[in-house]
Amino acid sequence: MNNSLRAIRGMRDVLPQETPIWQWLEGKFRHLTYRYGYQEMRLPLLEPVALFERAVGQATDIVSKEMYNFMDKSGEHITLRPEGTSGCMRAVLENNLCYNKTQRLWYQGPMFRYERPQKGRLRQFTQFGVEAFGMAGPDVDAEIIFMLRDLFQELGLTSHLRLEINSLGIPEERRAHREALVAWFSAHRDQLDEDSLNRLETNPLRILDSKNPDMQVMLNQAPRLLDFLQEESRQHFSAVCELLEKASIPYIVNPRLVRGLDYYTRTVFEWITDELGSQGTVCGGGRYDGLAQLFSPRPLAACGFAIGIERLLLLIQTVSQQDNPLWHFHPDVVIANERQDDGLKAQLLAERLRQQIDGLSVLVDCSGAKLKRQHQTALQSQCQAIVTLNSGGEIRLWDLASSQQMTLNEKDLIGWLQQHLH
Ligand code: HAM
Repeated sequence: MNNSLRAIRGMRDVLPQETPIWQWLEGKFRHLTYRYGYQEMRLPLLEPVALFERAVGQATDIVSKEMYNFMDKSGEHITLRPEGTSGCMRAVLENNLCYNKTQRLWYQGPMFRYERPQKGRLRQFTQFGVEAFGMAGPDVDAEIIFMLRDLFQELGLTSHLRLEINSLGIPEERRAHREALVAWFSAHRDQLDEDSLNRLETNPLRILDSKNPDMQVMLNQAPRLLDFLQEESRQHFSAVCELLEKASIPYIVNPRLVRGLDYYTRTVFEWITDELGSQGTVCGGGRYDGLAQLFSPRPLAACGFAIGIERLLLLIQTVSQQDNPLWHFHPDVVIANERQDDGLKAQLLAERLRQQIDGLSVLVDCSGAKLKRQHQTALQSQCQAIVTLNSGGEIRLWDLASSQQMTLNEKDLIGWLQQHLH
């Protein structure tokens, strides 16, 4: 195909054979959020560039390299959202949703980052995210982790994911740590790669995130932010850890977990798998109590997480032992017709079947193909029964489970379908 007509690099179609598993997973998200009392938000895909510059941070990879920015026709500087938290916070403040009350919210949809595409990394990807506003205590940090444990258990993924957590403290604590970190890295400058040397000026905390094997020993000895936490942050972190222990959720404290967005304060966490190669972080999140004050005079405690749906699906498909029938679409009944001009009759029969039997999926073959070909297509669709209107005006039912075929009238057909399929 002409290259100019192909999908843009890093952006993929979700094809009809894939949508059932997406819908199945979306159903799990809806059920989960309902059970924990979270309400859905639907947010715009376009936001002002300035929102992310301020919220996510100028020095982050997302803002400095990965945003799809452009000028709209009125000269406004806008962007395709690279993540959901900033827009959700904007919407909460703009609509005064937290005036004298707390909010538990969730969203799902496409995000855009101009990254180098590879397995598990796209330029348009989909996040399912949850944000809780107006609650400052460690119990809410624990609640959102409980939700994730619940979800991963339901999906059969518990043994394939590990939870890593850390505390990034508050800005004063981070400043003290930053100074110690810059001093340490400056003393070990000869061991820093080019990327880290650049970050030394702009975002030294992110050097801790480096995967460069030659730097690991030095990085493991670098000053730990956890050692710079003061009483309140220390207590918050130990309360989260205690709640996780009481709820029997295994976790690893990773003092080098820093996250790629600047808005975090205190608790941060990631759920990571070893099954997907280098793009193993399925979910990331944490607390961001300072974000609201970049936009409004009033403080607003907040925490949340986002899951990359494409990565989660890759993991489900990689580790699942069995195929799940809900991951595929199969009509219950296919109606074939021997005479081409019985098309309308077939449609009317299908309509009566749908009306009589709630939830029945009936697909009418309108291809105009010969009956044998219609039957082949129906068998490929893995339907449960084929109904044929034959040239003599009879209804033939072919039960694919028993391979039995029978001639019956419409009333008996409905009775049979009710009994066998629903
Ligand atoms: P994030 O870690 O940047 O956090 O992204 C969350 C998840 O989105 C990642 O763990 C990953 O599964 C998925 N993801 C990110 N980039 C890509 C990509 N290029 N291709 C495929 N999947 C990707 C956030 O976005 C925060 N807003 C999370 C949050 C919510 N924190 C608090 N509330």
